[in-house]
Amino acid sequence: MAAKVVGTVKQIVRDHKRDPGDLIGILQDIQAKYRYLPREALDEVSKSLKVPINRIYALSTFFRAFYLEPRGKHDCVVCTGTACHVRGAGRIVDELSRLLHCEPGGTSPDKLFSLDTVNCLGACALGPVVTVDGNIHGKITARSVRRIIQKYEKPEGKKKDEAKKRRGSKRAKAKSTRKARSK
Ligand code: FES
Repeated sequence: MAAKVVGTVKQIVRDHKRDPGDLIGILQDIQAKYRYLPREALDEVSKSLKVPINRIYALSTFFRAFYLEPRGKHDCVVCTGTACHVRGAGRIVDELSRLLHCEPGGTSPDKLFSLDTVNCLGACALGPVVTVDGNIHGKITARSVRRIIQKYEKPEGKKKDEAKKRRGSKRAKAKSTRKARSK
């Protein structure tokens, strides 16, 4: 894994023409690839650009958009802006922290969700608003947020099986209707 990361980072640095002035762009590309900034990637950036590692860490921790820890499979974001706050966003954050066993800024122990808050998602009329992987869910309550999370928790295979079952039962129903009509 580490060797692969180093190879990928070397390529990203080359794509940015080894320009230390483009450090943010390099970090953005690394994060786009891994969803966070692996330590070995930052070490390689430091080596390739001859930039002190503490400067790279300072930059990575200054911007909220950079993550130094692995992220969950799904990004769950609660809007805590004024319009959502007055409609109970705080209760949604509490409920999600309880369900996912992590605080905002953290990742659930099963690595399925990362939980974050944001100031406004631009959909104030729908408040309180939650997004999961960028999909907006509006007028959220503690109960509905539970249902949303459960939907993402279902393993892919199980979802496909259920869809298959539904299609099968629809086909059987259509067949029996046709039979009944032909009698
Ligand atoms: S305050 Fe929540 S979407 Fe604007």
